[in-house]
Amino acid sequence: MASNVSVQYLGHSCFLVTTPKAKILIDPFLTGNPKAAAKAEDIQCDFILVSHAHADHYGDTVSIAKRTGATVVAVYELALHVGAQGVPVHPLGCGGGGEFPFGRLQLTIAHHTSSVEGPNGPVMLGSPVGFLMRLEGKTIYFAGDTALTMDMQLLGERKQIDLALLPIGDNFTMGPEDAAEAVRFLRPKLSVPMHYNTFPMIEVDPDVFVREAGKHGYKVEVMQPGGILEL
Ligand code: NI
Ligand code: MN
Repeated sequence: MASNVSVQYLGHSCFLVTTPKAKILIDPFLTGNPKAAAKAEDIQCDFILVSHAHADHYGDTVSIAKRTGATVVAVYELALHVGAQGVPVHPLGCGGGGEFPFGRLQLTIAHHTSSVEGPNGPVMLGSPVGFLMRLEGKTIYFAGDTALTMDMQLLGERKQIDLALLPIGDNFTMGPEDAAEAVRFLRPKLSVPMHYNTFPMIEVDPDVFVREAGKHGYKVEVMQPGGILEL
């Protein structure tokens, strides 16, 4: 059967998911991203999902949304922050989900922080989250920036995950060994590493993740920026 869902890796934690119903851009950090596989001004999309407010995820959200008219989906406080800049938004709360034109989207727990730089230092903008998407009969889990957490076990027990997008860069998130443990909790058909080797602080060897997940029979595909996966 022909694939209905394509997932393009645009570098760092940015992915463009395309279905017959919509183009969904996740964590659009392109401008200033040394690994970006596209320019922000060339992206076409209908929805932008933003996992948290850190610049390496929030990135080009507002400029792309203004140009394309895309709706930005984020946790409540971040959605208000984006909406105040004149962009259409859909706020969700962690654990909450909804039906969208492309399918179902639910926010998942991420153990991390979410802040923007204010004049007197960082300002928190709600909880960081991940995304669980049900599109064209496929389930994609985008973990966002997170530590390894037992909550992943709950997801793995209750959902048949086709694709898990997991941070492996260490320092700010899970490293490769913890990400391999996350795979054991999530039991996805396929995993793809993200959030590594963009900057010196998150330099890791993705083969460690491939090897450790493989020890337990789980398949990992290391995508190059620009690469496309068909589900
Ligand atoms: Ni972050
Ligand atoms: Mn990050």
